[in-house]
Amino acid sequence: MERTFVLAKPDAVQRGLIGEIINRLEHRGLRLVAAKFVKVDRGLAEQHYAIHKSKPFYEGLINYITSAPVMAMVWEGPNAIAAVRQTMGATHPSEAAPGTIRHDYGLEIGRNLTHASDGTHTAAEEITLWFKANELINWSRDLDCWIFEE
Ligand code: RTP
Ligand code: MG
Repeated sequence: MERTFVLAKPDAVQRGLIGEIINRLEHRGLRLVAAKFVKVDRGLAEQHYAIHKSKPFYEGLINYITSAPVMAMVWEGPNAIAAVRQTMGATHPSEAAPGTIRHDYGLEIGRNLTHASDGTHTAAEEITLWFKANELINWSRDLDCWIFEE
């Protein structure tokens, strides 16, 4: 079972879309492992987006992610990293496929509503950065056998 880190970014929170994002991931069959509502400070934002430090959009990205609270979550399931990125859609909403969150709710790359880990290494790093070990809940659902084959 794979785990991935997800954010409902400030624009999603301000627009009342936390529930819609959770709804889509729940309906996909993914299982929630952890969630918390966070006002991101600059230090956390810089750690989270360290990989983008040299990019021209970096300052705007830090300002965006610290501008209002975010909903931070961990979700799990088979191939959860790829599955969640598929549900989010391409980074730029204008390139995201219809039916994805970024297509259905977004227009601009700097207001693209969600973050999701892009690989196993970044998923592990991001989960450790945002959550303490005791905030990650190991649990099962009665309907898991109808969603997970194994
Ligand atoms: P994320 O990390 O947020 O899940 O998004 P992503 O993998 O699809 O995209 P990534 O390349 O990691 O970029 C991180 C976030 O930076 C903003 N961005 N702006 N103005 C630009 O050219 C630009 N490029 C990226 C987006 O908010 C993107 O989600
Ligand atoms: Mg990324």
